[in-house]
This record gives sequence, structure tokens and C-alpha cells, in this order.
Amino acid sequence: MAGLLAESRDRLQRAGIDQAGLEARLLVGHQLETTGAGLIAFGERPVTPRQAEAVRALVAARVAGQPIAYLLGRREFWSLPLQVDAGCLIPRPETELLVERALGHLPAGPARALDLGTGSGAIALALKSERPQLQAWASDVEAGALAVAAANACRLGLTVHWFRGRWLEAVASRPLFDLIVSNPPYVAADDPHLTTGDLRFEPRRALVAADGGLADLRAIAAASHSRLRPGGWLLLEHGAGQGSAVRALLREAGCREVSSHADLAGLERVTEGRAGA
Ligand SMILES: C[S@@+](CC[C@H](N)C(=O)[O-])C[C@H]1O[C@@H](n2cnc3c(N)ncnc32)[C@H](O)[C@@H]1O
Repeated sequence: MAGLLAESRDRLQRAGIDQAGLEARLLVGHQLETTGAGLIAFGERPVTPRQAEAVRALVAARVAGQPIAYLLGRREFWSLPLQVDAGCLIPRPETELLVERALGHLPAGPARALDLGTGSGAIALALKSERPQLQAWASDVEAGALAVAAANACRLGLTVHWFRGRWLEAVASRPLFDLIVSNPPYVAADDPHLTTGDLRFEPRRALVAADGGLADLRAIAAASHSRLRPGGWLLLEHGAGQGSAVRALLREAGCREVSSHADLAGLERVTEGRAGA
């Protein structure tokens, strides 16, 4: 086992992977179904040729650029272990800012919140995990993403109402919400980041929006206002540099108390506003 671990680390290191040692432990541990402690404790344990071949295939996929989260089939978000696959976006740490802001606006006690474009279910599940009394709703246009989200909810023992459909269409006839939150696609089609890192392997529909990245933000801002109870909050994640455009979209939609909030890098990544009374 120790030899295979060293071989994997060297291969990842040669490919320029930053955390080669950590990733080697994760990939070998995943394939051999053991933890980091197990790899150390049972370092001398032999591996079968079949196991070694499977580990080498995983390492080769990583060297070819496949995201580590897809290879492991999981990613942690808001301290929740989430299953992910190539049909959904890999939840990002930046999105925890959106969850933090949303929790600050949720009324105490029972409330209704909607997560639009839920992907793996990350935001809806984080909110529900913090507020057990919350009636959490979530929608996505992709059936594959919703299946992952529902499986995550089931494993975590959290109840969320899942809907398939385009933005607000999926919940048009439901009672008004106290809060609507979304991390929609907001990358412009010609953004060079799309050809780098994990983004190369994630679903384009989860990343790219027309109109320089603003089309989905605009659609959600326009449709959400009438689905919020008076005084309810709309919170949107967006790209660094889109803050002023999204503030304008929320004001045009009739929101008040509109403001943007920066992530730890000091970049505006979340804009929020309140439905008029
Ligand atoms: C940036 S991903 C966010 C995923 C997840 N909320 C997260 O933060 O990890 C955007 C999500 O919006 C979904 N989506 C794209 N267009 C949509 C539409 N017209 N209606 C509903 N969902 C859509 C995608 O399938 C994807 O899951």
C-alpha cells in the first residue's frame, strides 16, 4: 500500500498538482476504502494487481485534469459531506457567504425558503441543517442534478421539497416565500476561465449564461420579486465585477435595501435586496 501511495504522489507531483501528497492519500484511500489513518497503520499491507490498476486509472484521470471531487464522488460544503457527480456543479467555498447572509435574513421559527438552481442541493441542505423548522424548497432544470440533491438529502436525513423546472416556473403556484436564494450560472461564454481547472469538466449549463453572464441573474431578479412575501429577501451569488449590474437588476425589479457583500478575498460576490411592502 505504501509503495502505491508513494508512486501516486510522485505521479501527481510530476504533473504539477499542488497538494500531491494529500490528493494521493485521498485517491488511494478512496479506491482501497480506507482512511488516511488506515493508510499509515496498514502501510505494509499488500494490494492486489486489480486494486493497483484501479488506483493508477484514478491518478491518470486526475493528471488529465478531472476534478478531485468528481473522482472521489464527494465534496464538503458547510461541513456537510455531499455526494457530487459530473452532472452537477462542485459546490464552492465562496457560496458559504450566500448561506451565511441567507441565515442572517431568515425569520426565527417557521419560514419558507427557495433555492433556485440547486445543483447538488448544497445551499438548500445547508439552510435546512441550520434551521430544522424551515420549509425548504429547491429547483433545478437538470433531472440529474436533482437526483444527486435528493440522494444527499436522504443520506443526511434532511427534508427539502425538490422541483424540476426553469427558475420560478417550477414553483409558480406555491405560496409566497420568506427568502429566495440562488447561485445561478453567471460566467460569460467567452470567459477564458472556462478552459482552465475544474470548470473544463463541469456542466456548461451550470456555469454559462448569455448576455455576458447576466441573463439568468436578470431572469431570476425579475421573476422573484412577486414570489416573495412583502419584506422577504432575495440573495444572488454572482461573479466578481458583476456587483453593480446585479444591484441595478434588483432595484429595477422593485427591491429595496439593496447591497452587495464581499468574500474573504474582498470581491463582491453576493447581492441582496428586499421585496417592497
Ligand atoms: C452555478 S450552479 C449552482 C449549483 C448549486 N446551487 C451550488 O451552489 O453549488 C447553477 C445551477 O443552475 C441550474 N440551472 C441552469 N439553468 C437553469 C434554469 N433555467 N432553471 C433552473 N435551473 C437552472 C444548473 O443546472 C445548475 O445546477
